[in-house]
Amino acid sequence: MPTLKNRVAIVTGAGQGIGRSIALRLAKDGATVVVTDITGKENETLNEIRSLGGQGMALRLDVTDPRMAEDTAKRVYDTYGRIDILVNNAGIYPFKPFLEMTFDDWYKVININLNGTFNVTRAVVPYMVKQKYGRIISISSVAGNIMGFTGLTHYSASKAGIVGFTRALALELARYGITVNAIAPGAVRTPTTQAGGEEQMKMMMQVIPLGRLAEPEDIASTVAFLASDDASYITGALIVVDGGWTIT
Ligand SMILES: NC(=O)c1ccc[n+]([C@@H]2O[C@H](COP(=O)([O-])OP(=O)(O)OC[C@H]3O[C@@H](n4cnc5c(N)ncnc54)[C@H](O)[C@@H]3O)[C@@H](O)[C@H]2O)c1
Repeated sequence: MPTLKNRVAIVTGAGQGIGRSIALRLAKDGATVVVTDITGKENETLNEIRSLGGQGMALRLDVTDPRMAEDTAKRVYDTYGRIDILVNNAGIYPFKPFLEMTFDDWYKVININLNGTFNVTRAVVPYMVKQKYGRIISISSVAGNIMGFTGLTHYSASKAGIVGFTRALALELARYGITVNAIAPGAVRTPTTQAGGEEQMKMMMQVIPLGRLAEPEDIASTVAFLASDDASYITGALIVVDGGWTIT
């Protein structure tokens, strides 16, 4: 039997890249997947899910808008009667040296990556509490509280914030049968990272012990594990998926 049969999942930023792969993988494992994004590409991901025999719906959700997050959670619950899995994946990573960083640069990254995670989680948790079951999985980064990167002070702060948020929330929600975990990917091959050019990709590969970048599917399979019953005793964890990069 598929591991996520009868489960209902919401994935943010699922129009492309890692979020798209997560949505496809959860659907393959039997979940009904609510594919959300702000670009319209959420419809393309849903079409792919359907063409593979999966099911779900596509919704426009800007994670920075708390009202939209509440409306989305309500609509999903009214339609399917449950919300079992939330994947907070939407995020941006624009490089900007600290000495050039404006308030707007800082606020935009914190608002999408960290406040967005809070907004959607806050909208979904009351339904999970009611059903006494839930899996919240947020995509952090090795740039959060593991490694430092120049040009990413705002991003690192947002991703470290997700780790702290995850641990504190895991404590508060454990009594309701809800687990809360985070994943720290290393370098992942996505349309956005590929835009940096093949040279940059090759340089990255040389410093990664497993000799390759992560594919989005490597992150999706970790999400699928954390969402499954096999991970029912894991909460408050940060799982590093980086090909060994941060142990060097
Ligand atoms: N690619 C990597 O190497 C890497 C490494 C570590 C962590 N991550 C994290 O993984 C996540 C996905 O990264 P990716 O490389 O697939 O990125 P991506 O740019 O390919 O996709 C991100 C998606 O998020 C959506 N998004 C942006 N702002 C949004 C908003 N306000 N509301 C809803 N959706 C919004 C975009 O439209 C896009 O579809 C991000 O949180 C990123 O920080 C990526």
